Amino acid sequence: MSNRNTKSIRIIVLTAIAALTLPAIATAGDAAAGKVVFDTNCMTCHGMTGKGDGPLSAALDPKPRDLSTGSFKFDTDGDGTPGSDADLKAVITQGAMAFGGSALMAPWPALGDADVANLIAYIRTLK
Ligand code: HEC
Repeated sequence: MSNRNTKSIRIIVLTAIAALTLPAIATAGDAAAGKVVFDTNCMTCHGMTGKGDGPLSAALDPKPRDLSTGSFKFDTDGDGTPGSDADLKAVITQGAMAFGGSALMAPWPALGDADVANLIAYIRTLK
């Protein structure tokens, strides 16, 4: 195979990879949609602006996490970085108790992947 052919194959492959990854980036969580899910399901504890001061929070121990600090506790995949997208997804869908935390942060198994991605995108805006 000539060098020129190898080069054009490489360009075709790179273009194909870009075409496959770009839509994935575009659908990676819609914060506005996440806010709707948050206000419905999470706000009562975590508060309107995520500070952990929702109407139910006064009665809770531990307090709901203040999501506006941007710092998180659970490193669910043990990669040394708590609060990665994978960690937040695991805590939201499986609950904090599954990772040694409080049962008050209950699992939300009924939320679909898109809802969870949107929630995470919204949580990132609270910082
Ligand atoms: C009944 C109250 C309550 C509700 C409702 C609730 N949470 Fe929580 N949440 C908590 C508490 C309490 C903690 C702290 C748990 C702990 O530290 O063990 C927490 C912790 C968290 C954390 C921190 C995880 C970490 O690693 O630090 C995130 C993220 C979170 N909640 C997201 C959500 C989302 C998203 C929803 C809605 C789908 C939600 N929570 C609904 C009470 C609640």
